[in-house]
Amino acid sequence: MKRFILAITGASGVCYAKRLFDALKGRAELHVVASDRGIELLNLELGLSLSYFSGDQVTVYTNSIINASIASGSFYTDGMVVVPASMGTVGRIASGVSTCLVERAADVVLKEKRKLIVVPRETPFSTIHLKNFLTLDQAGALVLPASPGFYSGQKTMDDLVDFVVAKILNQLGMEQDLVPPYQA
Ligand SMILES: Cc1cc2nc3c(=O)[nH]c(=O)nc-3n(C[C@H](O)[C@H](O)[C@H](O)COP(=O)(O)O)c2cc1C
Repeated sequence: MKRFILAITGASGVCYAKRLFDALKGRAELHVVASDRGIELLNLELGLSLSYFSGDQVTVYTNSIINASIASGSFYTDGMVVVPASMGTVGRIASGVSTCLVERAADVVLKEKRKLIVVPRETPFSTIHLKNFLTLDQAGALVLPASPGFYSGQKTMDDLVDFVVAKILNQLGMEQDLVPPYQA
């Protein structure tokens, strides 16, 4: 069973994190960490608390638990997804400050040359944001914007969320049946 880290930070779009968690639950070992703002957004946008992210093969952390297993490179993971990724977290990961568990876990994933997928939600982007994305990309991360397509018959908000989550699952190497491959 693969082992992934799912980090939820304080950008709009926590529905992507919930959908990704639902799609991975029971199929992978999951380590879920949320920033304080991420927890607030979960409540504001979905009426959920962090306890939603529980179950067999799931470990949940708050952001201050800097000595968690996922803070060490010796704890193998198959990758990490920061979804949604706030511009604050993007900037702090890009600068390598590692002041909290989300940032430290991402720092570890990058230094160990594992897969880091960052799913930003902001518009428009400033020059600073764009420079931070370039830094992350050059460090080996994949920047996968929460930018759904509309070309496969998407009708509902769930369809649009699934579009982005399917992209993430594909990148994690996990089979997905949320969105069929495009056929002309
Ligand atoms: C209601 C609300 C919505 C927000 N949406 C976004 C967003 O979409 N993108 C973003 O980069 N920041 C957004 N922010 C700002 C971040 O939450 C803020 O910069 C925070 O310090 C990020 O902290 P974190 O990176 O530790 O989660 C939002 C804040 C609030 C209160």
